[in-house]
Amino acid sequence: MATINTIPHSSTADTRRGMDLLDTPLLNKGTAFSSEERAELSLNGLLPPQAETLDEQTLRAYEAFQRKPDDLERHIYLRALQDTNEVLFYKLLLDHIEEMTPLVYTPTVALACEQFSHIYRRPRGLFISYPLRDSIPAILRNRSNKEVDVIVVTDGERILGIGDQGAGGLGIPIGKLSLYSLIGGIHPARTLPIVLDVGTNNTERLKDPEYLGWRHERITGQAYYDFVDQFVQAVKQEFPDTCLQWEDFATPHARPILQRYRNQLLTFNDDIQSTSAVALGAIIGAVKVTGKGLKDQQIVMFGAGSAGIGVADGLRAAMTEEGLSEQEARNRFWVIDKDGLLHSGRKDLTPEQSVYAQSESRVSGWPRTFNGKIGLADVIGNIDSTILIGLSTVGGAFSEPIVHEMARKVQRPIIFPLSNPTSRSEATAEDLIRWTDGRALVAAGSPFAPVSYGGHKIPIAQCNNVYIFPAMGLGIVASGARRVTDAMMLAAARTLGANSPALKDPTASLLPRLTDLRRVAAEIAFAVGIVAQKDGVAPKISEDQLRQRITETQWTPAYTSLSE
Ligand code: NAI
Repeated sequence: MATINTIPHSSTADTRRGMDLLDTPLLNKGTAFSSEERAELSLNGLLPPQAETLDEQTLRAYEAFQRKPDDLERHIYLRALQDTNEVLFYKLLLDHIEEMTPLVYTPTVALACEQFSHIYRRPRGLFISYPLRDSIPAILRNRSNKEVDVIVVTDGERILGIGDQGAGGLGIPIGKLSLYSLIGGIHPARTLPIVLDVGTNNTERLKDPEYLGWRHERITGQAYYDFVDQFVQAVKQEFPDTCLQWEDFATPHARPILQRYRNQLLTFNDDIQSTSAVALGAIIGAVKVTGKGLKDQQIVMFGAGSAGIGVADGLRAAMTEEGLSEQEARNRFWVIDKDGLLHSGRKDLTPEQSVYAQSESRVSGWPRTFNGKIGLADVIGNIDSTILIGLSTVGGAFSEPIVHEMARKVQRPIIFPLSNPTSRSEATAEDLIRWTDGRALVAAGSPFAPVSYGGHKIPIAQCNNVYIFPAMGLGIVASGARRVTDAMMLAAARTLGANSPALKDPTASLLPRLTDLRRVAAEIAFAVGIVAQKDGVAPKISEDQLRQRITETQWTPAYTSLSE
């Protein structure tokens, strides 16, 4: 009898046969089972006679995919394929990575979360609902896969830009983990999506008769944190070495949760930490293109919310790593919020913002044309800024005169309008390129089509977390890290920046193409693994060993023979 063990790293041999085998997406090969396998595994008669290769199957699947009329239908098709034959699903994704990533992840996954209850087909991952809070360890043990490298968990409260989706938020961990496997190469059998269903305040969901989540308003306050704690304690018990990634929690919950647990287990928050790392990576790439160092930059941050301060913190850490003192680094930031420049005379700053308060004496004679305060135009007019970043949600704030003024004083202005959605982008990529005669180095938060300028088509990098989290996962798993440190995140950002295509081709994007991301992910994973060792959170191994582990860990979709 054939013994099945197609799941690398798994010690459990599987003896499934017949329909049972065809119903197991991690083992099912569908029409690709060979005649020997069909005979040995009781599959004869259950499949059409023609045996296909994986490539042939992929072509057929792509044909079926192309017949789907819209993005949601394409998403449903891909998810159904994932729940039928995972190798084929990932092969199809890999062969069409640029076309399909937006369908399994942003932006289409937002639609899939909204429609979750209406498009629900088969179970995947775990629903941990509040009424079952005393059974969390048992629920975790009910999972279908024994060994887990990465868990992505959400409570569905702040799903992308569409807010509270309750249990439908599970679509996000499922989509994210698909990219952990596709790009990072984390074996799909070793991933686990989880939703903490603490209810929803989304009235549309609550009054939808087909809503499948727990019909209750959200649990809040201490009861909420106690529930999260019950979950974390159970995870620590059941998965002491597994990476727990927090996803799409509302900001007021996200930060306290990260602070509380980041030194207790292997964990990170993608929205807080990866977001900052991607922006930092793109900035580091852009600075390298200008031929200068980070320490030579004057940075204007327009927007001092959680994203703006998060990116500034990452940049500041990178600057001190390059030799600036803490004070020298702070002096290079000009941070502006809805009440103008942050300076020492202001009494309304949070502790995180105060770090960036410029001394009042430095700006005493400056014009105050923004409602009597120092606004963006005043700052740009008074310093030689080299980097302008927008995380303000104010669409069009980077106006032509402001951009002209900046571009007048610097050869390659680095301008990143990062606010989402497109309507809130501080400028369009096309305007920035035109207003600076093609000199601006641009990355955006929203997608922009390539800009035609001077006979070239300039692709515009979109700062998206996909550049970081799958690579972090690979680095963590391959290095055996026990914690995620800030230095590991910084290493990921630096390696991303070093892989900027614009370094080789001035008309190329600041961030790599998706088709190159598996290679870049392996490089990032290496840098992350080295720093994890330096930080004392991963066992010491040689560089060669680390590289070998990364290669071994990064799974590629392929069938292995199941016949003896
Ligand atoms: P937030 O609400 O915490 O911060 C917004 C900041 O902008 C506040 O400091 C506010 O005072 C400031 N602001 C508002 N109006 C202003 C004005 N007229 N002039 C100057 N400053 C003004 O929001 P958060 O979470 O920091 O996000 C900001 C934006 O960044 C959003 O559009 C979000 O979608 C986007 N974002 C983009 C990311 C990316 O990777 N592209 C990552 C994270 C956030």
